Amino acid sequence: MKVGVLISGRGSNLQALIDACAEADFPAEIVTVISNRPNVGGLELAEAAGIPHQVINHKDFEDRESFDGALDEALQAAGVELICSAGFMRILTDGFVEKWRNKQLNIHPSLLPSFKGLHVHERSIEAGVRISGCTVHFVRAEMDDGPIVAQAAVPVHSDDTASTLAARILVAEHKIYPLALKLVAEGKARVVGEKVVFSGLDETEEAPVLSHPQ
Ligand code: GRF
Repeated sequence: MKVGVLISGRGSNLQALIDACAEADFPAEIVTVISNRPNVGGLELAEAAGIPHQVINHKDFEDRESFDGALDEALQAAGVELICSAGFMRILTDGFVEKWRNKQLNIHPSLLPSFKGLHVHERSIEAGVRISGCTVHFVRAEMDDGPIVAQAAVPVHSDDTASTLAARILVAEHKIYPLALKLVAEGKARVVGEKVVFSGLDETEEAPVLSHPQ
């Protein structure tokens, strides 16, 4: 399956996907990496991996529709079949989301549907939750909403700061994003009635739920 990865920053999840795709028999290949911000770390990671990459700077466009149009055009030109948003910090128009319905994944650093939006780790600590985690889901028009493919649970320690919790969750993100991509690319995770159903998982495959104590 031909994958386009959308980024806005450092690209550690992109790197996890690059590493997974480099494994023998992995059912997906990253054909393009697109950043809406110039000079970000993720572009260097794509360059180092020899993956075509480009900047489509949202500031160069008058409105969301024209930015999303350019994004769509670039993805189509690269032959993308599935989008993986990985730290991509732009809200997409309903039209774009519908066009790529069930063909776009996102990763979010909480156990959705809790803590959608920004400042997730601060809000998780503020709320006093004992377990947080991360979620890979299909993208819908509402931010951080959509059928869930995989989740990992990560403990929140009493002395955690937003950055120590973020670092612990990031380790789990790097495990579940490749796992979710594999299952989707193999057709083993499919959306049925706004939920993801699994079929054909073999004995060697991990369940798409990870408990990740540290
Ligand atoms: C990750 O925590 C991801 O869940 C969130 O933004 C962060 C991106 O990190 N959406 P990176 O660019 O993949 O390192």
